[in-house]
Amino acid sequence: MSDATTSLTRGQRLAALFAFGVITTSAAALAVEPGSAAPARVVTGKVVRPAGPAWVDHAVFYQIYPQTFFDSNGDGVGDLPGITAKLDYVKSLGVSAIWLNPFVDSPFRDAGYDASDFYMVAPRYGTNEDARRLFAEAHKRGMRVIFDYVISYTSIDHPWFKASCDPKPNKYSNWFVWTNGTWYAGWDLPKNRAGFIQGYCERDAQYLSNFFWHQPALNFGYAHPDPASPWQLPTNHPDVLALKEELKNMLRFWLDMGADGFRADMAGSLVKNDDGNETSKFWKELRELMDREYPGRFMVSEWSDPKAATAGGFHADFLHWFQGYDDLFQKEAKRRFGNDGHSFFDVEGLGDISHFLKIYLDQYDGSRARGYVALPFSNHDLTRIKNNGRTDRDIEVIFAFALTMPGTPFVYYGEEIGMRQLDNLPHTEGSYGGRAGDRTPMQWTSGVNRGFSSASPERLYRAVDTAADAPNVAAQEQDLSSLLNKAKALIRLHNDEPALAAYAEFVPVYAQKDKYPFAFVRANGKDRLLVVLNPAGREASATFPLTYASQKPALIAGSGSATLAAQDVTVKLPGASYAVFRVNATR
Ligand code: GLC
Repeated sequence: MSDATTSLTRGQRLAALFAFGVITTSAAALAVEPGSAAPARVVTGKVVRPAGPAWVDHAVFYQIYPQTFFDSNGDGVGDLPGITAKLDYVKSLGVSAIWLNPFVDSPFRDAGYDASDFYMVAPRYGTNEDARRLFAEAHKRGMRVIFDYVISYTSIDHPWFKASCDPKPNKYSNWFVWTNGTWYAGWDLPKNRAGFIQGYCERDAQYLSNFFWHQPALNFGYAHPDPASPWQLPTNHPDVLALKEELKNMLRFWLDMGADGFRADMAGSLVKNDDGNETSKFWKELRELMDREYPGRFMVSEWSDPKAATAGGFHADFLHWFQGYDDLFQKEAKRRFGNDGHSFFDVEGLGDISHFLKIYLDQYDGSRARGYVALPFSNHDLTRIKNNGRTDRDIEVIFAFALTMPGTPFVYYGEEIGMRQLDNLPHTEGSYGGRAGDRTPMQWTSGVNRGFSSASPERLYRAVDTAADAPNVAAQEQDLSSLLNKAKALIRLHNDEPALAAYAEFVPVYAQKDKYPFAFVRANGKDRLLVVLNPAGREASATFPLTYASQKPALIAGSGSATLAAQDVTVKLPGASYAVFRVNATR
């Protein structure tokens, strides 16, 4: 098989295309298509706790984009000492862990997802000592920190790649995927050329890129090397094995420094022409390494296929590169290029939860014994949820959803104060799509640069939101009814409730096509919560059976009513609201 279009896994190719809006239809849906009958589900309270660190059981993660969080030295770019300076704030949110986007040295053509040195903090962010201090200071406050482990590619500026470009064979020649000629067989078939870059350097060969052209794929080998293309190395080729050992050492380097685990970038795309099995083997080796040498640390993948990712040893997997995700937050053309429809989380109330749920449940059922689904509501690749008229009240409902669903919630910095997606910003550092406007500096105060930096505004890494009503931390901390304080309350709820443990059972009880509200039960033994979400701007009510003997429903968060008659519950919620009821089992 020399067809390069199959060299990335299906999931990863779709993810890359989907991320940039190239695929906008159900082609990107995962295994389960709408229409298949859902099995009947009853609440049992039985839980399966996957093997993994106990601190993750109720953990909420906070995602920090280093360049835009806090600039400690006035050069216009956020940095690691800046993050350390703000750890008390992060702690005050009630989160237990931080995910840091890449901070190693890089030419920043893809905002740091293009490493030029895996072992050194980029000078613009500080030093390795600053990283060590950040980990230690987080630990002092009882928080964990995971880093971005970006190993499917490097930057073209990485010394390994530069050596690999040398026509004279050397240790690094095979550390990247190179064909055996600039005009290799098949070059005239356009579909075979996807991802291969010609004419970059003196080596008479093409290299395979993994994302942008300047991100050459590290060589994890081919699952089924084509004998007619001997440059496709098997996964046990000595050079492939040597690369993998080096990458394991790099992992040890940051874990030894104090990191508590990692987020694996584009985790499904390591081995080429793979159905996932060979790539999974490598990750399983890493899980074994972690369990053996670093017990208690955590690994989460960007794979968008929790069934595959947890089979590969990950404790959790981000699920967002699929059409069902759009159903939640970004189904409208105005929210995502090429889409046409209505988000479930929108006051107009024309969305549909059932398509999302079908795909979600397939992944949840297929992974829950091994790990967790992490369902982000925004991140550095997605649009901020405050866009196109969503208000803090709408966002509170989204927080309620994210913090009551199973698995490990991740909160992208700034969402807790309702930072807005900004439009029409220049595409610096590869921020195409909506990414420029969701990577703007954190808004700490109402002052100059919103308290992010003391640099003059034109020197900022990216423009801050200068609107008069731009939200900021200082003001919201003072205001008991602010989104910030509501988000904190929901995080506390997530931390404290046994039925909101990552592994607690999840049973949708009202999820009708094109209807509001959406209701589900989370259960952990007799501890049970009924969560009802009504993002529509009008009152919503529903009646459904609870399938077990429950106490009288008691509202513990949000607003609305629930009445129990025999085993039927009737809920009624105001527009744009959520409700969490305690519905413990009585026997
Ligand atoms: C991951 C990162 C994204 C980056 C891409 C390619 O998807 O999250 O920001 O652009 O990898 O490096």
